[in-house]
Amino acid sequence: MSEGQRQCGAGESDAGMLWDFWYPALRSNQLSGRKLRKAMLLEVPLAIGRDAHGKPFALRDVCPHRGMPLSYGEFDGECVECSYHGWKFEAHTGQCREIPSITSDSKLRPERIYAGAFPCEERDGYIWVYMTAPDSPRAEETPVPAPELPKFGARYSIAHLSAEMPVHVDHGVIGLMDPAHGPFVHQSWWWRSRRSIHEKQKQFEPIPAGFRMSAHAPSSNSLPYKILKLITGAPVTTTIDFTLPSYRFEQVRSGDLWFSSRAVVTPVRRDLCRLDFCAAWNVLRFFPVIGFILRVLGPRFIAQDTDTMTKQAEGLRSNPHLMLIDDADRPAKWYFQLKAAHLEAKRSGGTAPHPMEGPVTLRWRS
Ligand code: FES
Ligand SMILES: [Fe+2]
Repeated sequence: MSEGQRQCGAGESDAGMLWDFWYPALRSNQLSGRKLRKAMLLEVPLAIGRDAHGKPFALRDVCPHRGMPLSYGEFDGECVECSYHGWKFEAHTGQCREIPSITSDSKLRPERIYAGAFPCEERDGYIWVYMTAPDSPRAEETPVPAPELPKFGARYSIAHLSAEMPVHVDHGVIGLMDPAHGPFVHQSWWWRSRRSIHEKQKQFEPIPAGFRMSAHAPSSNSLPYKILKLITGAPVTTTIDFTLPSYRFEQVRSGDLWFSSRAVVTPVRRDLCRLDFCAAWNVLRFFPVIGFILRVLGPRFIAQDTDTMTKQAEGLRSNPHLMLIDDADRPAKWYFQLKAAHLEAKRSGGTAPHPMEGPVTLRWRS
């Protein structure tokens, strides 16, 4: 079995998804008033809402009494009331506050009963949920804050795109970092043609839990970069970071102008992931050019990837041997190595060794 296949999670009990990380569960604008919304992350059903102060919370969408999804219940701004027998749970901690059926002399202590609750934060227009591993003790301390999209000034525009991909998160991640599919999947007049394929050389360096494509002048045959250079007259540089579990940050800068984006591949189920893409920029803020590119061309670009992965999923169903080749698939190899080192460090309580010893130059044609 190849490395890629072995590590793509099929059949493993934990399904190859990474716990103890933040993932976007919903867009902020999907949560309003006292409505409870269903979401799913790492195959965990969630009931998500906002308390009376607007602060979001995420409960496991399963009542600890008899399993009724809590999202069918009522929410009064503080507690969620299960629709089956009326047990009430505090929204942020999941602590049971009331069991209507017990009599005053009952020995049952409702406050010792908890519905599952996950840390929840709102950032960059998303409701983020920290997916605490099932075997972790109930955490009192707050984990690291949810990742924030870097912004280089107070005034900017922001846009969001998302698309579901019917593949394991590993295939979503390596599809996102794979440079070799561009000329075949993303052929279009405004991006590139198949004829534009040429040899490239990129410098990579290790960063904590990930790797960076060092600051470089971006592909000269892409129209958006040509436009940017035309506006500022200054050189354009771009830096791309990938970090576990599945975050890709890209910054393009030219003079005072900047464009910053973050793509997260969110594991929903073992056979389904979602790409959540968010971008902020101050380039041509008063002309809707970038907004147009993102809102109109962005979905087409992403659809090219999702269509490809939908077709790929058909091939993956027969559990084939897979190959990762140098140098174009080297980032994918690093991803699997980073992930394996992270899991091993969690198991052993040690620190994860980095698969890269130092800066590396990769060469490929795309
Ligand atoms: S199932 Fe929720 S109160 Fe009984
Ligand atoms: Fe792509």
